[in-house]
Amino acid sequence: MTPERWLVTGGAGYIGTHIADEFISNGKSVVIYDSLYQGLESRLVYLRAKHGVEIPLIKADIRDYNEIESVIRKYKIDGIVHTAALKAVGESMEKPDEYFQVNLEATSELIEIAKRNGVKKFIFSSTAAVYGSPDTMEPCKEDGPKAPISPYGDSKYQAESKVTAFVDTPGNFGTSLRFFNVVGAAAPELLDNSVENLVPIVLGKLNKGEAPVIFGTDYPTPDGTCIRDYVDVRDVARAHLAAANATTKLPPTMNIGTGRGASVREIIKLVLDAINKTDSAVIEDARRAGDPASLCADVSLAKSAMGFESQYPLEASIRSLF
Ligand code: UD1
Repeated sequence: MTPERWLVTGGAGYIGTHIADEFISNGKSVVIYDSLYQGLESRLVYLRAKHGVEIPLIKADIRDYNEIESVIRKYKIDGIVHTAALKAVGESMEKPDEYFQVNLEATSELIEIAKRNGVKKFIFSSTAAVYGSPDTMEPCKEDGPKAPISPYGDSKYQAESKVTAFVDTPGNFGTSLRFFNVVGAAAPELLDNSVENLVPIVLGKLNKGEAPVIFGTDYPTPDGTCIRDYVDVRDVARAHLAAANATTKLPPTMNIGTGRGASVREIIKLVLDAINKTDSAVIEDARRAGDPASLCADVSLAKSAMGFESQYPLEASIRSLF
């Protein structure tokens, strides 16, 4: 039997490459579509060597619809994992139009192209940012309130509804997965190169001999710092595989997290422990605008719907970075 062939958009990105890695390990064939705006070809060089397989890379923008359509036809794509996106919350405030174009319009177009070309499976990378800044400390449930506070979160939230319309069509399969805070790496070659998130920022500071900064120590949490649900990127990849292999209809959206929260202080401590710099200075700064005190996933739906549970403890995720 010929293996299922999946197109991974944004497949040279931090999360996309981990998904490609997991799919190839599961016997699927993968084609990567990435503009290399943030993606790195070196990650694919690593994956090709690791698996000893050809992994085609199409270097093109997600808004180049003619190109995507010709790729889907050329490679006879069975399913699409759509991770290509702009993802910096702050930048989305400055460039909302671009965020809606790339994250919403391009998703909508990609779905139309999928429909025209008989692609039946679609898995969309969504985000906990759809929940915005909840006033409650309770874990977020998929059917609970959604109130994105950034164009980033809003563009992803609106894109989810396009995906839902697709997956609700009889004969189609898939879902939107709402990632919480993704950390870790399967290999040094696949590390997160972004400068947006807590762990890469802390590592960047330490590498330069600077002190990590905590944004806000007066939150109503046990240690006063924000709590998030940090999920290992390898678990995020496993969740995609579970969704791709599901034989029953999936819920239209599912949280992908661990169900456990960790504070900024705890994360910084884990990083310092991992590099034996426990006595390093840490700067306590003011709150960053728009940060909820706590944002954790209720993970029961992914477990009941596709048997998915996170596997990697936070300590292991942090250690995987060194
Ligand atoms: C992140 C992503 C968002 C994604 C969401 C999923 C960004 C900017 N945010 O949000 O796209 O949808 O996860 O849940 O990419 N912090 C510090 N010091 C620092 C950096 C961060 O104290 O130097 C704190 C923040 O205030 C926050 C926590 O660390 O409380 C996590 O921050 P961050 O990694 O930026 O993620 P989120 O804002 O939770």
